[in-house]
Amino acid sequence: MKEIPAIEGGTPIREQKIFYGHQYLDEADYQAVLEVLTSGDDLTCGPRIGALEKRLCQITGAKYAAVVSNGTAALHIACLAAGIGPGDEVITTPITFAASANCALYCGARPVFADIDDRTYNIDPESVQDHVTPRTKAVVAVDYTGQSAQIDELLAICREHGLLLITDGAHSIGTKYKGRPTGSLADMTTFSFHPVKTVTGGEGGAVLTNDPALYEKILLYRSHGITRNRSLLEKEPDGPWYYEQVALGFNYRMTDIQAALILSQLDKLERFKARRREIVRRYDAAFSEMEQLVVQQEIPESDTARHLYILRIRPEKLRIDRRQFFDALGAENICCNVHYIPTYYFPYYQKLGYARGLCPRAEKLYEEILTLPLYYAMSDRDVDDVIRAVKKIAEYYAV
Ligand SMILES: Cc1ncc(COP(=O)(O)O)c(C=O)c1O
Repeated sequence: MKEIPAIEGGTPIREQKIFYGHQYLDEADYQAVLEVLTSGDDLTCGPRIGALEKRLCQITGAKYAAVVSNGTAALHIACLAAGIGPGDEVITTPITFAASANCALYCGARPVFADIDDRTYNIDPESVQDHVTPRTKAVVAVDYTGQSAQIDELLAICREHGLLLITDGAHSIGTKYKGRPTGSLADMTTFSFHPVKTVTGGEGGAVLTNDPALYEKILLYRSHGITRNRSLLEKEPDGPWYYEQVALGFNYRMTDIQAALILSQLDKLERFKARRREIVRRYDAAFSEMEQLVVQQEIPESDTARHLYILRIRPEKLRIDRRQFFDALGAENICCNVHYIPTYYFPYYQKLGYARGLCPRAEKLYEEILTLPLYYAMSDRDVDDVIRAVKKIAEYYAV
């Protein structure tokens, strides 16, 4: 006999709610933060900023890293460093957080949306190629859910047309592409250390690059456009206090408190990655055999530190739609989310003239996905509950 979903009066799979993501903090993290507060060191621009930047370079193989206040700030100054400005176009994906496109708008440029690959849900290089115009300046590719974008194909397009490739790696710290860590593969890569991400600093971000000229610009934009670097000064210093503002930058600095927490979290990166992969393996094994469900595919080049688990439903095989599936899981106390609403659906973008229908594959995906719980501290029991709940609903409502 089929179990009756809780939404129809059956008993929920579990009594306690479980959410789609949650940070993991341990004693070492608390101590790291406490140590900053009691050290007497500068709370911003102190010793942990350089230490974190060095560590990010070690982990990713990038030559330069600049940490900033959050991932959105990282994207903004990456675009500024790329020289993106009014009249330019920046190609990105609609299946992402709004910041991946907003960064172009901040610079006065126009985001152009390329469609996704239907198997991986990452930006489709062919669609990118189709959207290149003489105004295109850069591509912002997102490592959606942690899976690496198709770097080789994207770099080939960018090199052919003289574009810069920026990867938004907000989801992908710890991921490798062809054995090389994300962060060292594109012209610039940005990270986010928001609490639902694999590694957190409360808030935080970083820009990584191998290019010294881009790095110089990133440093300037991070801190008001102010420099003490002699080679950048336009006038003779009139004293040891002297500095100049040579560009219009921002206060996008990270505090040492954030840096200490991120450094401590990075000590656990391999553990975080391994546990997340284990959960993904169990979900994939359970769901790939069900004809009502679709499992996200991975390109063989990506060795993924998975940040999000996306479950796609096949509406033609079910008597319910995504919203009803989402509500049915909620009634089982499995609290999901949806990543993402296509960026150009937002009223702000619609008022800028973006119409629905731009990216049909992304739009269809949005109708069919939900984000299941995935985080380091999930117990095996939690994972079992999610699997049982998904199966219960998919089987009960199968056509
Ligand atoms: C894909 C993506 N890009 C950019 C961001 C922005 O990062 P932050 O929240 O650190 O500003 C996020 C996270 O929220 C994200 O998921």
